[in-house]
Amino acid sequence: MKEVIHNLNPEKGVKIPTHIAFIMDGNGRWAKRKGQKRTFGHENGVETVRAMIEAAGSLGVKYVTLYAFSTENWKRPQEEVDMLMSLFVQSIKMELPNLMKNKVKLAAIGNLAALPEECLNELNEGIRETAQNTGLTLVLALSYSARWEITEMVRRIAQKVEVNKLDAASITNEDVVNHLDTSSIPDPDILIRTGGELRLSNFLLWQLAYTELFFSDKMWPDFRKEDLHKIILDYQSRERRYGKISEQVISH
Ligand code: IPE
Ligand code: IPE
Ligand code: MG
Repeated sequence: MKEVIHNLNPEKGVKIPTHIAFIMDGNGRWAKRKGQKRTFGHENGVETVRAMIEAAGSLGVKYVTLYAFSTENWKRPQEEVDMLMSLFVQSIKMELPNLMKNKVKLAAIGNLAALPEECLNELNEGIRETAQNTGLTLVLALSYSARWEITEMVRRIAQKVEVNKLDAASITNEDVVNHLDTSSIPDPDILIRTGGELRLSNFLLWQLAYTELFFSDKMWPDFRKEDLHKIILDYQSRERRYGKISEQVISH
């Protein structure tokens, strides 16, 4: 444990990731294994959210993105969808004093207009109240899918082309970035998916182009600060080459 803390110390010249994204998976299976309803798993997942925000914040991570509800998750049984929506409302309300204390700034990506009114109101309230906070930015991906986001981006750009605000022939990579929901957020350095599945499930397909990927067999409610520390240590030993060769990226 001591070694972990030492190696994670940014003062030692070891790189702390700027942005960590989580696919919080495995709540349902965790609950079923305990003979409980799936919704019990979602309730317990909130504890892990709290632990991750605190752990990431104290390491100096600037952005944490949480995949909380996908576009496809609307197809789940209505009872589970309703429960999740009220859990979001309740959690934002409950966690607000804690977010303020830790200087966390709340943000959201996704098709927010699809959320129930109460949920959207609570979310907007949380975003407004935390807007001046200068610590970690917590990005909630709600009713989000990467294909939805990319389709929206195309629509936004096409509308600008139509009114001559953009020239189709000179659209750049940067124009694409600027029209995504994540336009003001740097790409994730680390993606962590809990729950044992080896897939992205429609999450941040554009932004993950050069992200370091980590998959944990632990179910989300069982994922701990120590698991995050181990992943960051592993990340620090990886060489990110972005297409170049090793000699070009080693800095002395
Ligand atoms: C992730 O856990 C939470 C959401 C998708 C909202 P799951 O509910 O997908 O749990 P499993 O994967 O079925 O165990
Ligand atoms: C991904 O988990 C979405 C979230 C964690 C919000 P899913 O449980 O919905 O993904 P699949 O269905 O296993 O791909
Ligand atoms: Mg799942």
